[in-house]
Amino acid sequence: MKRIIAFAGSNSKNSINQQLVTYTASLFKDAEVDILDLNDFDLPLYGIDLEQASGIPENAHKFFNLIKNSDGILLSLAEHNGSYTTVFKNLFDWMSRIESKTFCGKPMLLMAASPGGRGGASVLEAAASRFPFHDAKIAAQFSLPTFGDNFNDERVVNEQLNNLLKECVYVFQSNI
Ligand SMILES: Cc1cc2nc3c(=O)[nH]c(=O)nc-3n(C[C@H](O)[C@H](O)[C@H](O)COP(=O)(O)O)c2cc1C
Repeated sequence: MKRIIAFAGSNSKNSINQQLVTYTASLFKDAEVDILDLNDFDLPLYGIDLEQASGIPENAHKFFNLIKNSDGILLSLAEHNGSYTTVFKNLFDWMSRIESKTFCGKPMLLMAASPGGRGGASVLEAAASRFPFHDAKIAAQFSLPTFGDNFNDERVVNEQLNNLLKECVYVFQSNI
């Protein structure tokens, strides 16, 4: 059975992106989905001086190995000031010091959710243009705007968006 890792680019304990990831994971068929929480991978703020003095922290290796040993990645990015959250960028930077091809050629379902109407369009654009340099194979992309209206009772309640999400899951699963 294919093994997928699923996580949100957020460290909020009420993360809307983590909620979207959890729901999306429930749509997968015949796959083992490992839902991760970045709060379980605490890391110091990346700095070249720290890296030279102490090396790369164990949690960066742990997360990188989870990617390496998976068949695909489900990631929903939170958007902070038009870009990645600090916690995601920090993990990304640390892992890129282990291997610049951070995503190891794995198929990715890239998503973003936001409370506002743009659905994390800026962070999605940043990731979609950058991740391929780190060997992510982006199979499908999904954006969930106005989370408060479109997500309820642990699911996407807007049927049009829900159908789009199911299509993305199907395309992603066809690529792994
Ligand atoms: C520092 C900060 C910056 C933010 N910047 C944006 C932004 O640029 N675009 C946006 O759509 N939402 C922005 N937001 C709102 C987030 O989308 C919102 O907090 C969302 O819940 C974050 O996702 P999460 O719950 O998965 O952490 C920002 C929130 C914070 C705290």
